[in-house]
Amino acid sequence: MKKILLIGNGAREHVIAESLKKNSGVELFVVGKTKNPGLYKLSEGYLMAEVSDKNAIREFALKIKPDFAILGPEAPIAHGIADMLLELEIRSASPLKTVGRLESSKSFTRDLLQKYGIKGNPLFKVFFSEDGIEDFLKKLDGNFVIKADGLKGGKGVKVSGDHLQSVKEGFSYAKECLSEGGRVVVEEKLIGQEFSLMSFCDGIDTVQMPAVQDHKRAFEGDKGPNTGGMGSYSCGNHLLPFLNSSDIEEAANITQKVANALFQETGTYFKGVMYGGFIAVKDGIRLIEYNARFGDPEVMNVLPIMKTDFAEICEAIIERKLNEMKIEFENKATVCKYVVPNGYPDTPVKGEKIDIGKMPDGVKVYFASVDEKEDGLYLAGSRAVAVVGISDELEDAEKIAQQAVEAVKGPVFFRRDIGTNELIEKRIEMMKAIRE
Ligand code: AMP
Ligand code: GLY
Repeated sequence: MKKILLIGNGAREHVIAESLKKNSGVELFVVGKTKNPGLYKLSEGYLMAEVSDKNAIREFALKIKPDFAILGPEAPIAHGIADMLLELEIRSASPLKTVGRLESSKSFTRDLLQKYGIKGNPLFKVFFSEDGIEDFLKKLDGNFVIKADGLKGGKGVKVSGDHLQSVKEGFSYAKECLSEGGRVVVEEKLIGQEFSLMSFCDGIDTVQMPAVQDHKRAFEGDKGPNTGGMGSYSCGNHLLPFLNSSDIEEAANITQKVANALFQETGTYFKGVMYGGFIAVKDGIRLIEYNARFGDPEVMNVLPIMKTDFAEICEAIIERKLNEMKIEFENKATVCKYVVPNGYPDTPVKGEKIDIGKMPDGVKVYFASVDEKEDGLYLAGSRAVAVVGISDELEDAEKIAQQAVEAVKGPVFFRRDIGTNELIEKRIEMMKAIRE
């Protein structure tokens, strides 16, 4: 038997657990803040604790003696849980803190690309004081993005035109970031279509997963506040309809070069998932950011169609033997939609009951921010339940996912438009227009 320690309690960890358990030789032990009913069912042991609580995790790990660990969310990676486990001689298919800076520090990643001559950065500058910020904002001609330099759950980034209406407002937010973190990243606002390309990485080699497009805005038509992601889709050919295959190649090349640069820079191998948030622009690809873990919801598009044993991939990552593995995915289209509480993300209702209802055949259901009580499921305040439709055609995958979200009853909403032809056509038109 292989004993695996999995940290995290969201839908991302639910699908990770499901994938690992396809191997009947896997025993799973979970550390989660809430009792996720899906994960709970799949695990042999479940510790309710904060996912960055070093003492609680150390004690649990010493007791179960896992063969290796996987850290689902960003917080335990940034807090050095993999480093703590390594002191106990438990290795992880997730990065140590120093290379986890790829996600936890925006300036680290921008500087890394620049230092190693890797293309993909927009125009940017890192500021340690107010000096020069206003001039740079003016130079960017009012098209700027300001990024707090730390983990902010996606909330530290403000974009001109969206959240900031003038150089004055930009300067004032930049000062706020400076006083909080001592550093702020200011960069050019890029115009194009965003997509996610996740790669397994053992510190030397990278292997790509199918490309995915997430939908960050809360409401249909990409309106409303940014969220953790309302849903995502992927296509049977593992590309995206608004991209050329050379766009994906370019993104994959950046990731491989960044993996090499990370090792040169730190002397530490990045082991885990490099998740690049890219944007296709007029003349190619730019990097928005890296995350040091699977994307949520994107992981639900890729792991259910992965043919290769996930536990074996994790071992290959740890042993730096990815080059000896052939990692394959089914040529299926997938659509993932999240059901979220009314009021999400700013003022989500909490503690109200939901009912999953009758799900269509073949749909996958993953639990996120819900509490299971004796009489049913309760909203816990963030994205609640994700569903995934899988089919040969995107259109059919979308229909399955849509039927499934409609079956969920309670004070909740979802985005009907994710994965629909209509929305995808708009993306294709937009790319055509900017690349003409
Ligand atoms: P991040 O936390 O870096 O993923 O940023 C959150 C969101 O802000 C991204 O998904 C983009 O929509 C937007 N964003 C970040 N950087 C840029 C940029 N340089 N140009 C345009 N949009 C950006
Ligand atoms: N899909 C957004 C994230 O995982 O950060």
